[in-house]
Amino acid sequence: MAKQITKKVTWVGKVDWELTTFHGDELSTKRGSSYNSYLIKDEKVALIDTVWLPYDKEFVAKLKKEIDLKDIDYIIMNHNEIDHSGALPELMREIPDTPIYCTKKGEAIIRGHYHEDWNFVNVKTGDTLPLGESTLTFIEAPMLHWPDTMFTYMSGDNILFSNDGFGQHFATESLYNDTVEQAALFYEAEKYYANILNTYSPMVTKKIQQILAMNLPLDMICPSHGVIWKENPAQIVEQYLKWADAYQENQITIAYDTMWQSTRKMAEAIADGIRDTDSSVTVKLFNVAHEDKNDVLTEIFQSRAVLIGSPTINYGFSFAIGGLLEMIRGLKFKNKKAAAFGSYGWSGEAVKQISSHLAESGFEVVNDGISKLWVPDCTMLDECRNFGREFAKNL
Ligand code: FEO
Repeated sequence: MAKQITKKVTWVGKVDWELTTFHGDELSTKRGSSYNSYLIKDEKVALIDTVWLPYDKEFVAKLKKEIDLKDIDYIIMNHNEIDHSGALPELMREIPDTPIYCTKKGEAIIRGHYHEDWNFVNVKTGDTLPLGESTLTFIEAPMLHWPDTMFTYMSGDNILFSNDGFGQHFATESLYNDTVEQAALFYEAEKYYANILNTYSPMVTKKIQQILAMNLPLDMICPSHGVIWKENPAQIVEQYLKWADAYQENQITIAYDTMWQSTRKMAEAIADGIRDTDSSVTVKLFNVAHEDKNDVLTEIFQSRAVLIGSPTINYGFSFAIGGLLEMIRGLKFKNKKAAAFGSYGWSGEAVKQISSHLAESGFEVVNDGISKLWVPDCTMLDECRNFGREFAKNL
């Protein structure tokens, strides 16, 4: 059902309570998501973004209840990943000549996806589109998080339509940031940042500074996923600036895999040692093979140091640790210290290999790690505790 946001703006998106994964299986979405589309009715009518492909017919049918499609003067595509452009073909079948405003890269991406010669209008930062009492201003935001991304600012209502930026995979029927559970909202916003945007943090900082320098009055931020930031929208902007600046809390995350519990015992002994040295630090342990990988990555994002553990298997580390290390490499975490640990039976390569991966991924690896043969006994576990103590002292 459509929801009126201001006198001129109506939310015409889709709340997807069933979504459990996104980007294939790359990202878990345990709280669902939404695909936010916005209809602006001024003297001219503009539609901002569409919804994901499975909901294309539903989207167009609901849109028809809000407006005669022929009365839509402009379609604004802030970003053209399929979760936002998927309903475009269904819509364009009805209004094939309506101009689509997007960046040059946006046009290339739409053409590459749908192979249609629609009426594209390329826009750049600072270009404007008067709608009547209000005017749209376009702001290119490349790599937040695709090369085509742009934001659209609406004067009068003072709304920034930010697409993925400031979004969260968070299904809600209540639409606004002050009407949902705050801890869950901020967790999902952080998880979204850590898993999707962190790798582009330098661009995030630059773009936010550029927008702040424009001194635009801001009453609302309307992203393309999750809640609308209506109550104090500056709070999520400030939070993004913190997240983009090599974010860390006083936390150490120990992420491990274990075959016969030896590496788990090492993890727990190391955690004991860390707590002996620094009782103020939050230490969290995750068996990566059983945990949600994106939650573990979010914990790593907010940590000042990480320990990654794996038994040696087939002359290397485990499948679960391999997947985690590859995702860590891509997300380009900054300003974090690290070390490796693990049990082994004969060859014992895992610790060295994990250390190398972490160093290549930008972590400061503070020691050579610790390996223990077969099942660690009391002496070996004491050595792990000492390892934890020394690791904490080095932070
Ligand atoms: Fe929500 Fe990058 O698509």
